[in-house]
Amino acid sequence: MNVSELVRIAHKVLMHNLKVRSGEGLVIAGDSLQSPRLLDAFVTAGQVLSARVGLVTWPALERQNDEPPAFVGAAFAAADAVVVAPSVSITHTKAVREARAAGARVLVCSGLTEEMMRGPVDVDQDRLARETRRLAEMFTNARTARVVDRNGTDVTMRLGDRTAMAVDGVCDQPGQWNFIPAGTTALAPLEGTTEGWIVFDGSLAPVGILREPVRLRVEGGVVTAIEGGRQAKEYREFLASFHHPGVYNIAEIGVGTNPKASLSGRLIQDERILGSVHVGIGSSVNLGGTVDAPSHTDGVILRPTLYLDNHLVVEDGRIVG
Ligand SMILES: [Fe+2]
Repeated sequence: MNVSELVRIAHKVLMHNLKVRSGEGLVIAGDSLQSPRLLDAFVTAGQVLSARVGLVTWPALERQNDEPPAFVGAAFAAADAVVVAPSVSITHTKAVREARAAGARVLVCSGLTEEMMRGPVDVDQDRLARETRRLAEMFTNARTARVVDRNGTDVTMRLGDRTAMAVDGVCDQPGQWNFIPAGTTALAPLEGTTEGWIVFDGSLAPVGILREPVRLRVEGGVVTAIEGGRQAKEYREFLASFHHPGVYNIAEIGVGTNPKASLSGRLIQDERILGSVHVGIGSSVNLGGTVDAPSHTDGVILRPTLYLDNHLVVEDGRIVG
């Protein structure tokens, strides 16, 4: 991908997602594993918009959500707007929390790649935001959800009166954050209420793209059996390694709304695939749930049929409601 194309898309993101204005203090941030070309494209795009732009980088952290060096958070907190685009995520860190508390707008793009820039980032942002908010509102208003598919998924859950998050990519208010690629919703179902079978056939973190379906039996809101082949075994062993009951909690349900997201093995993109449903398993406190667990993993059902309160919303992977 050539540099001018990267700058064009970065410019679009700064204008339509982060709403950067002339004279604003804008920090572009990424770690040592991120493509310098990608970060530079955002710096150039910011300069085109007459923002006062700074680039902040740090040595890539060993584990996701370890705290970056103190100068990183200090730069974030002093900015009007921040693009956080490291290879190793720092989404849930003090650096990001305190930046928001100080009034910075924070656009998080962990694991962003040049391919994603051309793909699910380069979309009709206003249309995507509208559609994502529309679906999030449907989840918020619904009391129950049911998902079925041809692989044997058949699962029901109660949603209560919780509010669904719209990952619409819009970040225009002080202290607000959002994410790109945009285009998914997220809601924590009521603990203990999910029952049935979930069959993942797209991708599943941390396993990756699934070569064969992974079947989860869910009883009383928790995963009680994981069936399938080698990848099912890998996932079973991954969860068992935490020795914590919370990692089996059904933590999240959402639907993808991004027409340019395609299966990649990275959940940040895969749970945005148009008409897919993803289910999160493990910790739910960041989503308004009550389970605090040492892990949160997501899996994708590619061609689901989704009912919200008996209203057909997605049919065989096509949004119809
Ligand atoms: Fe999730």
